[in-house]
Amino acid sequence: MEEQTIRVQRCETKKEKPQDDQLVFGKIFTDHMFVMDYSEPLGWHNASIVPYQPLQIEPSAMVFHYAQSVFEGLKAYRTDNGSIELFRPEKNMERLNRSNDRLCIPPIDEEFALKAIKQLVSIDRDWVPHTEGTSLYIRPFIISTETYIGVSAAAHYKFIVILSPVGAYYKEGLNPVKIAVENDYVRTVKGGTGEAKTGGNYAASLKAQEMVAKTGYTQVLWLDGVEKKYIEEVGSMNVFFKINGEVVTPKLNGSILSGITRLSVIELLNHWDVPVIERRISIEELYEAYQNGQLEEAFGSGTAAVISPIGELKWGDKQMIINDGKTGEISKKVYDTITGIQYGHIEDSFNWMQNI
Ligand code: COI
Repeated sequence: MEEQTIRVQRCETKKEKPQDDQLVFGKIFTDHMFVMDYSEPLGWHNASIVPYQPLQIEPSAMVFHYAQSVFEGLKAYRTDNGSIELFRPEKNMERLNRSNDRLCIPPIDEEFALKAIKQLVSIDRDWVPHTEGTSLYIRPFIISTETYIGVSAAAHYKFIVILSPVGAYYKEGLNPVKIAVENDYVRTVKGGTGEAKTGGNYAASLKAQEMVAKTGYTQVLWLDGVEKKYIEEVGSMNVFFKINGEVVTPKLNGSILSGITRLSVIELLNHWDVPVIERRISIEELYEAYQNGQLEEAFGSGTAAVISPIGELKWGDKQMIINDGKTGEISKKVYDTITGIQYGHIEDSFNWMQNI
């Protein structure tokens, strides 16, 4: 099939850009966005970069009723030599299509979508912040736009990419976060949509999230939805535990998001010959390791969260203070290496970065 061209309409007036030290996560959006439509028999068409603006969408659009939508999250970094780079973006495009498949959304052309993202970031390149720890967060997403309130996969969609200059995701910045294990609610179940990046998984997490926030915890650690026994993920990040010299992360099982930072952490640990294993790990086992003094470190990984040390875990009335509530050695090394590659201080020997 012949590749589409991307129509570009630049904005007439540019918005004022925030100072790097004022950046929080995800509140400010750049001057432009990418939009593309899907309908039969045209398939994906009408690819355009246009000024960032509200969408015109009917209230009967199916996404509002049955949540047929998927999204991705990746970042553009300004490196030491001034270039702008994306971290393993082809993996986000692959995952977007896996989410599409689960949500019955037609696949996108991954190479074309990546080309569109690079062109959009290039047009808004002045929005990529300059300070280490900041970046331009890229949010591609697809929504069903067909006007129909019967339940079925839609016939019309929009693929949109918006950009947001961001600072740290957690208010703690790089300091260890406090996390509460959720015993009542579940995020998703095996066979459900947990592995897909779809809004419903995040909507399902809000109730528990609100409840733990009231008790001073930053996030919820989800257990499996069937036995409520095995550790899954935090929702905004995957988790790793260093137990007795070995790093353990929950094995992907259909209800855990397959994080790209998670994959990169595993690849780095393997490269350093640090023992790392993907397996089922129960919360009881973790607590026992803690009581025996074997739980040495815990951290989360994610695009938004980067590497986030976990200083405290609460499980019912049990409390685990990990590594005295301080950032552990492995967490720090993984953080320094991944961000070092992203910001260009360390050679990209894995070929993870793509220039725009
Ligand atoms: C990301 O890490 O990019 C995500 O999509 C998580 C989201 C909760 C911000």
